[in-house]
Amino acid sequence: MEKYAILYVDDDHENLRAFRRLFRKEYQILLAESGEEGLELLQSQSPIPIIITDQRMPEMTGIEFLEKTRELSPDSIRIIITGFTDVQALIDAINTGRVYRYITKPWDEQELYVTLKRAIESYELKQNNERLLKDLQRKHEELERSYQHLQEAQHKLIQSEKLASIGRLASRIAHELRNPIQGIRMGIELLRQELMEPNHPEGFQESCRTNLQHIDQEITVANTIVKDLLEYARDMKFDFTEADVNEIIDGILFNLSEKVTDAQITVTPHYSDIGTITADGIRIRQAIMNIIQNGIEAMSPGGTMTITTASHGDDAIRITIQDTGCGMTDEQQQRLFEPFFTTKEKGVGLGMSIVHRIIETHGGTIDIDSTPGSGTTFMITLPGTMSPE
Ligand SMILES: Nc1ncnc2c1ncn2[C@@H]1O[C@H](COP(=O)(O)OP(=O)(O)OP(=O)(O)O)[C@@H](O)[C@H]1O
Ligand SMILES: [Mg+2]
Repeated sequence: MEKYAILYVDDDHENLRAFRRLFRKEYQILLAESGEEGLELLQSQSPIPIIITDQRMPEMTGIEFLEKTRELSPDSIRIIITGFTDVQALIDAINTGRVYRYITKPWDEQELYVTLKRAIESYELKQNNERLLKDLQRKHEELERSYQHLQEAQHKLIQSEKLASIGRLASRIAHELRNPIQGIRMGIELLRQELMEPNHPEGFQESCRTNLQHIDQEITVANTIVKDLLEYARDMKFDFTEADVNEIIDGILFNLSEKVTDAQITVTPHYSDIGTITADGIRIRQAIMNIIQNGIEAMSPGGTMTITTASHGDDAIRITIQDTGCGMTDEQQQRLFEPFFTTKEKGVGLGMSIVHRIIETHGGTIDIDSTPGSGTTFMITLPGTMSPE
C-alpha cells in the first residue's frame, strides 16, 4: 500500500525523533526544525497529505507557518500541536479553516495515532471527491463536444438530403416530360415527311389527322404533369368550415363506382356517428380520394377495401382505409410521401405528397401499416370532432 507523507515541524529535536520513531512504519516522515525549513521541504516534496507543526517556535509560529502552507499545498490537512496557552489564536485558526485539528502537548500517542488516521481518511475523501468532480467535468465536456458534433452532422445531413431530394425531383420531372415530348417530336416528324411528299398519296388527310390527334394527346399528358406539379408547388389555400367526413366518403365512392366495378373489387364502408369536424371539406375529399384510388390501383380482381370512420379520443376522429393490395416494402413506405415517388408506369407520384400536406395542415396524422403481398392500412387521425347533435 502507498505510504502517505507527513511533514512534521518542531524546533525540539527530541520531539522530532520521537515522532519519527512512532510513525515511520506507517508513513513517510519528513522532518523540519523550523517553519522556513518546512516551507522549503514543501516546495520540493508536494503533495504532502498531512502537515503537522509545533506552535511555539522562534521566528515563525506554527499558525503562521500553516498559513503559509495554504498556497503551497492547498489540499494538505493541517494539524497543530500546542500547550494550553495561545488558545485564542488556535480557536481563530480552526474557525478560519486553516487548521484541521489541534493536539495538546505533551501528546498522547494513542490520540495522535487516531488523529493522523482520521486526517488521512479525510484527505483521501477530499482527493476522491476532487477526482470524481474532475471526472464529471471531463464527461460533461465530452458530452458537450459529442452534442456539437451531432448537431453539425445533422445539419450536413439535412443539407445533403435536401440536395438529394431536389436532384431526384428534377430528374423525375425530366423523366416524366421526356416521353410526351418525344411523342410530340415523332408526330411532327411524320407530319413533315407526309407534307414533303410531292404527290399526296391516298388517305393523306386521314393520316395527318391521326398524327395531329396523337400530338394533341401527348400535349395533354405533358400538360397534366405540369398542372399536377403546379398544384403541388403552389401554396394550397384552405377554407375551414364544418365538414361531414361520412358524407364526403359516400360522395367519393359514388364517383368511383365505375372504377371499382371495372377493377372487380368490393369496397365496404363502416360509418360511425362522428358528427362534423372543422376542416376544408374539399381538401379532405381530395386526400381521401387519393388514398382510396391508390388502394384500388394496388389490388387485383377479387380484392376488398374496408373504410371505417370512428371517434378517436375526446376530440378527434379516425378514418381507416384498408386494402388487400400489393402492399409496400419498408423502403417504399419511407419514400411514400416524397414528391414524384411512384412505382407505377403511368403514375406521377404526387398523390401522397399532396395527401400529406392536406392532413398536416389540418393538424392530423397518417399512420401506415403495410405488408408486401397482403395489403395496406392507412389510418388518418383528424382533430376537431363536434358533438353529433
Ligand atoms: N394502397 C397502396 N398499396 C400499395 N402501394 C401504395 C399504396 N398507396 C401508395 N402506394 C405506393 O406509393 C406510391 C406513391 O403513391 P402516390 O399516390 O403518391 O403516387 P402514384 O399513385 O404512383 O401516382 P399519382 O401521382 O398518379 O397518384 C405508389 O406508386 C405506390 O408504389
Ligand atoms: Mg396515387
